[in-house]
Amino acid sequence: MRISMVMAMDRNKLVGDRGVMPWKIPSDLKYFKQLTMGKPLIMGRVTFESLGGVLPGRPHIVITRNPDWMHKGVEVVHCLDDGIDAARRYDTDEMMVIGGADICAQAMPHTERLYLTVIDHEFAGDRWLESFSWEDWTEVSRQETDESADGGYRFTYYVLEAAAR
Ligand SMILES: NC(=O)c1ccc[n+]([C@@H]2O[C@H](COP(=O)([O-])OP(=O)(O)OC[C@H]3O[C@@H](n4cnc5c(N)ncnc54)[C@H](OP(=O)(O)O)[C@@H]3O)[C@@H](O)[C@H]2O)c1
Repeated sequence: MRISMVMAMDRNKLVGDRGVMPWKIPSDLKYFKQLTMGKPLIMGRVTFESLGGVLPGRPHIVITRNPDWMHKGVEVVHCLDDGIDAARRYDTDEMMVIGGADICAQAMPHTERLYLTVIDHEFAGDRWLESFSWEDWTEVSRQETDESADGGYRFTYYVLEAAAR
């Protein structure tokens, strides 16, 4: 089963701001839904809290160090490897690591495909995808939008595959 990651970042690799996304781009959320539907999601506890609840149609695997943390409809694990093992139990071709920056830093070396939305703008925030470097990836496809598309921002959907490591 392929290990994939889905993230959106700005020009400076910013991904988060005080526990939430720094922007609201409805078409990117729709794209996220299309990509992830039916597939197991692996995420950090902070990212789960930012979702506001369980997203329908996708098993949720949440990583936390807190042995007492639980949430209805969520499988809790205490390290990334256990999250990946849990995702492998589902009968799908792909598992989706969906953030945040902390979990992505740990998952990046294992990630085979990266669905990366790059927003051509500089936002304010406090979490960056520092673990991402363009030179580690080969471009499979890109789809560019213009300012009129959504939210007043220009952005590009990249599909990237890990370069030989
Ligand atoms: N732009 C995007 O595409 C995107 C996507 C997702 C999230 N985000 C944003 O990113 C931000 C959240 O990212 P983040 O880096 O702060 O947090 P995160 O990666 O979502 O979660 C971090 C938490 O995961 C748990 N954790 C991490 N490593 C662990 C390990 N090795 N073993 C056990 N538990 C572990 C810990 O939970 P405990 O503290 O419970 O122990 C840690 O506090 C938010 O602002 C969110 O909106 C952006």
